[in-house]
Amino acid sequence: MKKGSIKDVAREAGESVTTVSHILNHNDSRFSATTIKNVHAVSERLGYAPNKHAKQLRGSKIQTIGVILPSLTNPFFSALMQSIHDHKPSDVDLCFLTSTATDLYDNIKHLIERGIDGLIIAQYISSPDVLNNYLKKHHVPYVVLDQNEHQGYTDFVRTNEYQGGQLAAQHLIELGHNNMMIVAPYDMMANMSTRVAGFVDTLRTNQLPEPQIVHTELSKRGGLTIVDDIMVQSATAIFAINDELAIGILRGLIEHGISIPKDISLIGYDDIDYAAYVTPPLTTVAQPITDIGKTSLTLLLQRLQHLDKTIDMIELPTTLKIRATTGYHLSNYLRIFRNILIIVMPLALL
Ligand code: RIB
Repeated sequence: MKKGSIKDVAREAGESVTTVSHILNHNDSRFSATTIKNVHAVSERLGYAPNKHAKQLRGSKIQTIGVILPSLTNPFFSALMQSIHDHKPSDVDLCFLTSTATDLYDNIKHLIERGIDGLIIAQYISSPDVLNNYLKKHHVPYVVLDQNEHQGYTDFVRTNEYQGGQLAAQHLIELGHNNMMIVAPYDMMANMSTRVAGFVDTLRTNQLPEPQIVHTELSKRGGLTIVDDIMVQSATAIFAINDELAIGILRGLIEHGISIPKDISLIGYDDIDYAAYVTPPLTTVAQPITDIGKTSLTLLLQRLQHLDKTIDMIELPTTLKIRATTGYHLSNYLRIFRNILIIVMPLALL
């Protein structure tokens, strides 16, 4: 279906282009409520985005991409924004917006009314089918990533979360830990649940006890406040679902006089820039944040050029960044000592 122009809206509404332009740009004080309501209804039905008219009048070829995120302050998302900004062509404008999952639809509608040409959505989409129909109707291509699952409606970028959970567990197992804890948010998104699944499955494959799982707010404060609960458990290693949680836990453990990693090992997830600068520097599972941003932007720009191109789902690898918050568990030292004794004792008896 051809995208409605301002002339189509005017003809369909029985008004002049000037009237329609004024109403859709909210200069509508001199028009009746009936006229205003009629023009908006026709514009919505034809999928017309008013501000594109202004750009078309200026002959502008600038494309505007909306980027919707759960947070601007979480270093994972700020690094994602920076990557998208660093890789954008000069004729593309960006509009960054935070949104809750609840307000996502209204925020997208707001961006469309202001004429965005495409969307990168990192916030959780609760009704993918409804949103897909709305964006198709308004001819706004989009790319989905991170906290969402691939529904097959459009291009999708994710990291190998299951592998990330496996890397964290394998690293702690190799250090001799067999009593582990996971610190996770109250409401885990699909990507984080997959992280946990990779971790738990790896423990099971190694015939190790199930990890204790404690829940808190997904923030540095949430990590700090859960430490009282951690202290009454017997875990010798903690897997925090993201680095912000890990940084809060790190501060709380140190305030309790715990020596990291001598007493407890701690591993995070994301590899945000702060991870290398806390003391001790954080061992973590790295998400390729720069590549996530670059890949998402590339897919959207390709779709803006070819609306009907085949749908891409790109999965990027996660990697282990070993720093200084993970170390050998005492049981491992005892095991090593025992192995030495097994070798040395017979020789001593000769
Ligand atoms: O730190 C923010 C977390 O939420 C990251 O793990 C990222 O994957 C997002 O889902």
